[in-house]
Amino acid sequence: MKTEILRLLRHTDGYISGQQISEKLGVSRTAVWKVIRQLEDEGYKVEAVRNRGYHIVDSPDLLTKEELDSLINTRWAGRNIRCYEVTDSTNLRMRQAGDEGAPGGTLAVADRQTAGRGRRGRSWESPEGSGICMSVLLRPRFSPEKASMLTLVMALSVAEGIGQCIGGTDRASEPDVQSPAGPPVIQIKWPNDIIIDGKKVAGILTEMSAQIDYINYVVTGVGINVNITEFPKELEKTATSLQLECGHAVRRAPLIAAVMERLEENYQVFLETEDLSGLMDKYSALLVNRDRDVLVIGAKEEYQAHAVGIEPTGELIVRRENGILERITSGDVSVRGVYGYI
Ligand code: BTN
Repeated sequence: MKTEILRLLRHTDGYISGQQISEKLGVSRTAVWKVIRQLEDEGYKVEAVRNRGYHIVDSPDLLTKEELDSLINTRWAGRNIRCYEVTDSTNLRMRQAGDEGAPGGTLAVADRQTAGRGRRGRSWESPEGSGICMSVLLRPRFSPEKASMLTLVMALSVAEGIGQCIGGTDRASEPDVQSPAGPPVIQIKWPNDIIIDGKKVAGILTEMSAQIDYINYVVTGVGINVNITEFPKELEKTATSLQLECGHAVRRAPLIAAVMERLEENYQVFLETEDLSGLMDKYSALLVNRDRDVLVIGAKEEYQAHAVGIEPTGELIVRRENGILERITSGDVSVRGVYGYI
């Protein structure tokens, strides 16, 4: 009932009376009043005016099931939510959920992870209460070799969701230009790091359980540095947070809701062709590497090249110094800027 009351409060312009809420939900006015009291205890600011009713003025930065359910307006992405105050890793939780038959779109959100995992065997640290650690379970019906593209679909959705929430621009027509006074420019470092002002603000780890020709499930996990204000020395030059870039704290639940909405829409576009053709324009407009010199780091060799763009299948196209164009696959190599992180 708390979720429904929150939804009603949020979707009403002005005030809604206890009587109206109790009629809409088929519960007593006392029950409504008790929930409003609970919400206030949790930090929601609800204005109560005699003869007019209730009006929600402010919400705390909570990652509860009720808060998320009341904000996520999708058909399937994030409709089945599992919230953890503490867990090892939301990717591990969703892998377990996948093995147990949970439906596609199931979302795990944690306030703190004790064993957060990053790409290439690295760990992912996020101080309690100030980041987003979430993973979505997907059950695509296409063949396993296409699954790596989902990580780019998620990167685009995260970049767009962030843009929607912080009022930043998620279109970067001139990657090197950023007005100090303007909104933050959100970009993607191929394949799936989200960048603001040349620093990483979010990362994505996509994992799959599959047979040779059949995907059991895919889990795509997202870590976003939201209200972190200090990073360890070794990350200071390459990591940032939304709060540092916007100059104010950002509420996490609406951001998760925005990412889920963008994901549902982008995933639908992806499914039409089972590649990135329908998303290429948006993704390429955000690609920080485009038209930059990059260092391609493979297991056997490391070379300098010029990044040209991406293929509809998600590979990065680079021009080597001898002029030959090469397609590079994210699992095989990593890419960074010639002089630093991007
Ligand atoms: C990266 O290395 O950039 C990827 C980081 C992915 C971190 C997220 S946090 C939520 C989910 N659970 C994990 O253990 N990892 C991902």
